[in-house]
This record gives sequence, structure tokens and C-alpha cells, in this order.
Amino acid sequence: MLLSSRTLYDHSFNVCFMSLVLGRSLGLAVERRRSLGRGALLHDLGMMRAPAEIRDSVGELSPEELAQVRKHPTWGRQTLSMTPNFPYDALNIVLDHHERADGTGCPNGLSKKNIPYMARIVKVVDTYDAMTSPRPHRPALSTTQAASPLLERSGSDLDREMTIEFLRLPSQAIR
Ligand SMILES: [Fe+2]
Repeated sequence: MLLSSRTLYDHSFNVCFMSLVLGRSLGLAVERRRSLGRGALLHDLGMMRAPAEIRDSVGELSPEELAQVRKHPTWGRQTLSMTPNFPYDALNIVLDHHERADGTGCPNGLSKKNIPYMARIVKVVDTYDAMTSPRPHRPALSTTQAASPLLERSGSDLDREMTIEFLRLPSQAIR
């Protein structure tokens, strides 16, 4: 796939930083932003349980391999739920960051406002960071190039208001 340890580290840091910027812009209180930062930083922790050959693969994944990758939100939540005092809303970010507004996401097919608020923040930022990072089959999009496809996905898999707010942030705050 795409998430070698180095890529995963950079992606996790980027998503944490930009989620905090967006959370602040959306008016989240400091206490909730603490949870947001923890959940965003560790949102892909479950990928460490995926076999290394899947994590580091640069080719197309088989359906079986994809099924393994789709377990990473559940694996991440399981691991972090054993950490004493890890915030409940941060656990939900880890579990629900691949849910989609149209109900076709994983692991539970939640839709729209049933997806926890902070998981929706991380979903927007996660999608943007994937678009603006290079992949084996395509170059990275610039911030400007990513704006239109990101907006197109709002309302289907991304929260529309949050996507618009994200795109209103100063470009130096999001890359
Ligand atoms: Fe993920």
C-alpha cells in the first residue's frame, strides 16, 4: 500500500497538526482539542498490526489484503483502549476516522452526524494529507490542486461544512 513506517510517521504528524488548526478554527475548546490531538496523532496506530508486506507494499492490494487494512481502525482502538485514561473521544477518532458521510465507510457504516464530530475533522485532514502526499502511482497534488477534489468529496464522504472551513484556512497553516 503506502504506509511505510516513515510515511506513517510523517502522515500522523501532519494530520495531528492540521486537525488542531482546523479544530481551533471550528471553535473547539482547549480540553477537546487535547483529545483531538491525541486521537489525530494516533489515528493510524492500528496499521502497525497489519503485516509489514501489506504496509510497505507499493502495488495494488488484493481484496484479502484490503480487508486486513480496513481493520486498522478497530485494531488501533483496541490497542489504545488498554491505555489507562486515554480519552474516550480520542478513542472514537481512532475507530471512526474511515467512516464516510454517505454511510459507506468502515468499520460500522456510520453516516453524517452519527460520525463523531472530531472523527469528521480528522477525516477531512486525513483525506487532504493523502492527496497532497506523493504515492507510487501519482505525484503529490499542490494545496491549490487539492481544493477542488476535496470539495467534490464533501457531502459524499467528507463533512461539507468542515471541508469548507478547512479550505478557508491560510495555506501556510495547512502545508
Ligand atoms: Fe487510517
